[in-house]
Amino acid sequence: MQPIISIRNVSKTYKGGFTALKSVDLEINRGEIFALLGPNGAGKTTLISIICGIVNPSGGEIIADGHNILTEQRLARKKIGLVPQELHTDAFERVIDTVRFSRGLFGFPRDEAKIEEILRKLSLWEKRNEKIMALSGGMKRRVMIAKALAHEPKILFLDEPSAGVDVELRRDMWEMVRALRESGVTIILTTHYIEEAEEMADRVGVISKGELVLVDEKNSLMKKLGKKQLTLDLQTPLAAIPAGLGDYALELADEGRKLIYSFDTQADDTGIAMLLRRLNEQGVDFKDLNTEQSSLEDIFVSLVSARP
Ligand SMILES: Nc1ncnc2c1ncn2[C@@H]1O[C@H](COP(=O)(O)OP(=O)(O)O)[C@@H](O)[C@H]1O
Ligand SMILES: [Mg+2]
Repeated sequence: MQPIISIRNVSKTYKGGFTALKSVDLEINRGEIFALLGPNGAGKTTLISIICGIVNPSGGEIIADGHNILTEQRLARKKIGLVPQELHTDAFERVIDTVRFSRGLFGFPRDEAKIEEILRKLSLWEKRNEKIMALSGGMKRRVMIAKALAHEPKILFLDEPSAGVDVELRRDMWEMVRALRESGVTIILTTHYIEEAEEMADRVGVISKGELVLVDEKNSLMKKLGKKQLTLDLQTPLAAIPAGLGDYALELADEGRKLIYSFDTQADDTGIAMLLRRLNEQGVDFKDLNTEQSSLEDIFVSLVSARP
């Protein structure tokens, strides 16, 4: 299947000479939820601002739903909704007017039923006649989402959607994102929260210092790079790791009541069988054992810290 967005060799050096993106190649599949994950300053906002036509790339090419974003900017932009990281709206405008305006901006005919549907979905209908400046931060964020959806985009960008957002809005937002995906909308979110990528995304791209470090299915990323931990609940707490087990990656936790062994799921031999035998020889008994997959957080930290 043709990707809905294809990014080739895109780079960006800002006026001051700072290179925020170095030759990024990325394809976004139609209908997926893609998380661009990286620390602050990695280049996430720069990349999506380029796709949305807000920032000019220094090089490279981007096709969004068949349209070159530089030579067919209006056509490309029409397909895209953006919920920016920073809230900026006309404070004096009424909620419903600003959402209507966003729809009109892209040349769509008025559709009051559609506007009502969007406002209701975002719990903004009761506030439709209020001025934006009278709203709380969370409500303003809802207005930004409504504006992004007003022209029924096929591609939706959410730049750091959880930053400064309360639990309720976060839940509503994820519900809406899933429903939009069901209806065929492709969603790209940027985040520095690993849990968010882990919870929402089908695929994850890790970006660090302007470079895409890797792109993979979330599940296979977890499988490939995930270390597993084996936790043993000990019969008798240990004060220290027995000397005879010093060559294993072991840690004590819970005041010596748990022994944790980290192993690589990709290794030919996890070493577990041997470890259990050695524990037995050392007279270390355990009541229970269980394994746990490492989170994207662990993967991310190990990836980013491995880079110079
Ligand atoms: N307009 C600009 N001029 C100069 N440097 C910028 C500009 N915008 C962003 N940067 C720099 O580019 C880098 C990437 O920024 P950004 O894309 O906002 O990262 P992220 O969204 O991942 O936090 C940062 O070091 C930032 O300071
Ligand atoms: Mg950003």
